[in-house]
Amino acid sequence: MSPGPRVLLRDFRLVDETLDMPGSVLIETGSILDVFPQGALLPETRFPRDTTIQGGGSLVLMPALVDLHAHFRDPGYPEKETLESASLAAVAGGYGTVVCMANTNPVIDTLAKAQALKERSDALGLMDLYPVLALTQGMEGRVLSDIRFLEGPLHETAPWIRMLSEDGKDVVSDELLYRALQAARRLGIPVSCHCDAGGPEADAAKAAGKPRECWSRIEENHATRRVIALGRQTHGHVHIAHVSTKESVDLIRKVKAQQEPALTLTAEASPHHLCLTQEAAHTLGDATWGRVNPPLRTEADRQALIQGILDGTIDAIATDHAPHTEADKVQGAPGFTGLETSFALCHTELVSKGRLSLSGLSSLMSASPARILGLTDRGRIAPEFRGDLMVVDTEAVWRVTMSRFRSRGKNSPVTGLVCTGKVLMTIQQGRVVFEAPVSPDA
Ligand code: NCD
Repeated sequence: MSPGPRVLLRDFRLVDETLDMPGSVLIETGSILDVFPQGALLPETRFPRDTTIQGGGSLVLMPALVDLHAHFRDPGYPEKETLESASLAAVAGGYGTVVCMANTNPVIDTLAKAQALKERSDALGLMDLYPVLALTQGMEGRVLSDIRFLEGPLHETAPWIRMLSEDGKDVVSDELLYRALQAARRLGIPVSCHCDAGGPEADAAKAAGKPRECWSRIEENHATRRVIALGRQTHGHVHIAHVSTKESVDLIRKVKAQQEPALTLTAEASPHHLCLTQEAAHTLGDATWGRVNPPLRTEADRQALIQGILDGTIDAIATDHAPHTEADKVQGAPGFTGLETSFALCHTELVSKGRLSLSGLSSLMSASPARILGLTDRGRIAPEFRGDLMVVDTEAVWRVTMSRFRSRGKNSPVTGLVCTGKVLMTIQQGRVVFEAPVSPDA
């Protein structure tokens, strides 16, 4: 992606995980050259191609968002989403960097397939894509994927692979998951773990005809315990995807407090689990429009997740963007479209209600996920960081209208919701890649 021209963003409220001050930012050749506090002498824009973007009022300049977890459906499911539609949705949501999952058709289980997707994304030039590699061939849970013979560290040989994952299903075999974690450790990157491999207690609950909300909780808690134990044995980096139960939050907190040198443990929560409960799933239809993996849970679980993001137990907010067609949702396909609503939903529920500062939200959605991926060049507003930024209006009030989504997935659980806080512009290495239409409801 070719870096843009010189851009001066002036008179904004500048917010990142450590910063909240009025000021201006100068971007040159794709990176932040300087940050000026309000009142400092600003450089003159010198060249005809220089751009000035004026802030003011309730406009805030923040680092572009970093998503650890999205389903792009490409290749294989163009009726749900394509690389193009997902990328447009991502930049409309303020994302500059996205990790996309491997449950495509074919499954992304070789370096060559991941590289092909990365190259197509770079040619689009909208944002920085990091495809995961599946843990097993075809995500069939039988034979390890390419990860078995790749040499590490991948940061040097294939720097566009930053995470491994079998998300969409868990690896049932303990032995295979152990070997996958060992490979990830050798390659120097985390495994994002989709924790729902049940165990005997979950099987018994299912056999006894208990409801999904019951056995899926047992599954998640069991699978989270299992992968932490395997992470200890392999000395790897275990990243827990879409944490949703209070028991998992408690376990992760306890394990982190032990500061075990043999284990790196990180975790993410999704906007829908932070903002919605099973009541919303009932209203939407538990088996259809309200269905997601893991399911929306109780208010006590939601409060535990919020406590988890406040005390550092949960490191990041990740969308789990999972677009589906209407026909698929009616048939019970799990998942919600999420890239275009994640910031507004979290801002409305967490920042506007006074639970979290805007800096705290920036940390969870930009700097912290960037750290988990080892991407030390983004997620902050500071000299030498990438010029990947977004302009948000924290006071803009707007209604979620699915027909306006860039994503092909019109399966949002929050359609019609009135949100406070809106992404107005996304800037990628100094180039404006998204500008919100002027219409107040767009
Ligand atoms: C995911 C999808 O649709 O790919 N859906 C979801 O509900 N999160 C896969 C999955 O995690 O089941």
